[in-house]
Parts: sequence; structure tokens; C-alpha cells
Amino acid sequence: MVVHVNDHSVIANSRWNPARCFMENLEKRSPVTSDSMPSRAPDATAPVIEIKNLYKSYGPLEVLKGVSITAPRGHVVSLIGSSGSGKSTLLRCCNLLEDSQHGEVIFKDEKVKWFGTGQARRPSDRKQVTRLRTNLSMVFQQFNLWSHMTILQNVMEAPVTVLGRDAKEVEQLARDYLDKVGIGDKADAWPAQLSGGQQQRAAIARALCMQPEALLLDEPTSALDPELQQEVVRVIKDLAGEHRTMILVTHDMSLARDVSDHVVFLHEGKILEEGAPDILFGAPKSDRLRQFLSATAPA
Ligand SMILES: Nc1ncnc2c1ncn2[C@@H]1O[C@H](COP(=O)(O)OP(=O)(O)OP(=O)(O)O)[C@@H](O)[C@H]1O
Ligand SMILES: [Mg+2]
Repeated sequence: MVVHVNDHSVIANSRWNPARCFMENLEKRSPVTSDSMPSRAPDATAPVIEIKNLYKSYGPLEVLKGVSITAPRGHVVSLIGSSGSGKSTLLRCCNLLEDSQHGEVIFKDEKVKWFGTGQARRPSDRKQVTRLRTNLSMVFQQFNLWSHMTILQNVMEAPVTVLGRDAKEVEQLARDYLDKVGIGDKADAWPAQLSGGQQQRAAIARALCMQPEALLLDEPTSALDPELQQEVVRVIKDLAGEHRTMILVTHDMSLARDVSDHVVFLHEGKILEEGAPDILFGAPKSDRLRQFLSATAPA
């Protein structure tokens, strides 16, 4: 079984030490208890992930034109904007699923190292890339569960295979996370036997089971019909209530308003406005944002 570590992540509860962190993290895993949930610690606002002045193009198409965002520990940052504005690209640049041509990606004060410039720029330190990717757990619009594995196996796979954790311990953790997202009774079911909302909750449990530093969620509700969306929205609200660090790309403005500490409005690859949700949604400054919000408002 080939597992792509860039779809998964691990936790680092300890203070950041690039040399020791990864192994320490493996040792520090513990079952899901209220103690193991992130809380606003003294360093609660230390950035987990920072993007500085990032430029990204696909050939001649410039997609990100000097974007900077910060996701402080325990905060939820939402990216909103119209289709094609670069939200998914920005999220994927955060965990280096996409290359970028200029600017910095910084994970817990550690700058990503690059070689080459422009279109030839690539991360130069593979261990660093693995550390970053395994600390930022991604949830996709289309769930991406492995169809030949049960839900429990899906959730357990990466911690056991990628991180080399003890299967028994991981099984308990996986069951706890499945309970947490409300589908503990589906552990032995196959993905095809679950509704879309249940599959997405399984995908969130899978991301959580890596005990990540941060979750990156790319439109986690948009493939679902409204009723099923609510199941997933509830889970995301719970996670936000626990002060998990998240970057959330969403077209659901009421979700963004409810869960975010900070909202970023991307327009044509640039940040046009950003701020606290009440201000951004309550008093948008630019015509473009006003237009966008009125187009996305429920009828
Ligand atoms: N792999 C790719 N190759 C070429 N162009 C791409 C690629 N991925 C994205 N693009 C282009 O980059 C731009 C930004 O795409 P992106 O997926 O980031 O938008 P988005 O804001 O997430 O949109 P949506 O809300 O529809 O998901 C679009 O013009 C898209 O066509
Ligand atoms: Mg997208």
C-alpha cells in the first residue's frame, strides 16, 4: 500500500525543535481526551503556518500575486472568494502540494528551504517537506477515502503506515475520533455504504487521527446536499470550539462567519480585504466584496 504522506499530518504538542520534533511527536501521541485537545495555551497566537508574499503561476497564468496569510495556533482562518480566485491553490501551497515561484512558506518559525528560482523553484529539504506535510492534515471536497478499506482501516492507515505507530493504540484513537464525529457505529462499514456527509466525517476523523498541528479544509461541505452539509458543519464548529488551528476554504459564508477568527477575501489572486468576520461580513469596504457577499447570500 502506497500512502501519500502529503494527505496526512502529525501532532507536535511540544515546543518546536526542528531536529527532535518529529520523533518526539510520535512518542507523545495519546488517546482522545479533553486533555489532549488543543487549548489556548500561553503561546496560543504563535503562527503554525505563515505565507509571505507568495507568487504562483501555472505557466503564463498568474494565480497568486503576492499573498500573505498567517494561521496562529488555535485560530480558524477562512479563505473566501469567487471560483478561480486561487483559494485551493493557496491552501495547497501551504503544505507544498503545489510549488510556488516566489515568497516564503513558514511552518512554526521554520522557513521552507528552496533551490532554484522562478518556475524551477522547488523545496530542497525532503525531511522538512515531510515534517511540514505530516503536520498539516488536509480534508478535500471529495473525501478521498480508500474504497477497498473499511472506515476504521481508512482512519488507521496513515498513523500506522506513515508514522509507524502501534496499531492497537491507533485503533483506539481511530475509534475515539469516529465517535467524536458521530459515526462510531460505521467503523466496519465500507466507504460506499456511507452517505456523503458520513464519508466526509470519516475523512475528518482520518485527518484528526494523525493528530495534526493544523487542519487544512478545502470546501469540506460543498459536495454535499444541504442536509448532509449540516452534519459536517456541526463537526467543524465543534473543532473550532476546541480551538484547533484550521485554514478553511469555503463558499458557506454563514459557516465562515460563525467559526472564523479571521477571514481573507481573495480576488484574482490577491487579498482584497481581510479581518474579523463581524467586520468583513458586517461592513465590507470594497465593491467587489459587497458584490460577492450579495451573490452568495441565501435567497
Ligand atoms: N493544475 C493546474 N493547472 C493549470 N491551472 C490551474 C491548475 N489548478 C488551478 N488552476 C487555475 O488556477 C486558478 C485558481 O484555481 P483554484 O483552484 O485555486 O481556484 P479556487 O479559488 O479554489 O476556485 P473554486 O472556488 O472554483 O474551487 C484557476 O484559474 C484555475 O483554472
Ligand atoms: Mg477550490
